[in-house]
Amino acid sequence: MAQLPAVRTFVAGVRAIYAREPDMEKRFEIVRPMLKDMLADAKLNRRSHDWPFRNNPARGYVENLLFYEDPDFGFVLNSLMKKPGEVTAVHDHAHTWTLYGVLRGGERVTRYVRKDDGTSDVRAELDRVDDRVVEPGYIDFVRPYEVHVEATGAEPTVGVIFRSHRVGDFWQNYYDVTTGAIRKSRGPVQIPYELR
Ligand SMILES: [Fe+2]
Repeated sequence: MAQLPAVRTFVAGVRAIYAREPDMEKRFEIVRPMLKDMLADAKLNRRSHDWPFRNNPARGYVENLLFYEDPDFGFVLNSLMKKPGEVTAVHDHAHTWTLYGVLRGGERVTRYVRKDDGTSDVRAELDRVDDRVVEPGYIDFVRPYEVHVEATGAEPTVGVIFRSHRVGDFWQNYYDVTTGAIRKSRGPVQIPYELR
């Protein structure tokens, strides 16, 4: 169990919500401001300066620090560390639900919707529907199969992510916006990391 007080409070709060609220959309709406509070925690921010930047997108390597996985409800707490100029694939998170919070840095978040009927596993027609530059404290609520990309600015960007499930052992979709091609990826490698 994570030792940082703000994280302990967050996890306990989320467990209480999961125990009383079965609907995932409602759970995530309630958790959202709790994640916002945790992102404002000075100690968490200080600790994040020790977290490693090890992604190598050119070689297809992306990792998440895995801070916590709930033994009963399956939700997880991750970090995604991106160097200046680093860009994610245009992707979805398959069937999982996500609150992606910016702890440090800043980035450009672009959202897409599928214009096609969504049934093809190999090709998609994407429409760009939102494009914004975000700062620490911003939280992107990513529902199942919602398509998005994040591009880090001049500073490194540290994301703290609340997910309904641990990723890395099922296929996610990576999209080529120009050609419409979809390829399958296991997504970020999960690296257990003790958050003290
Ligand atoms: Fe994502």
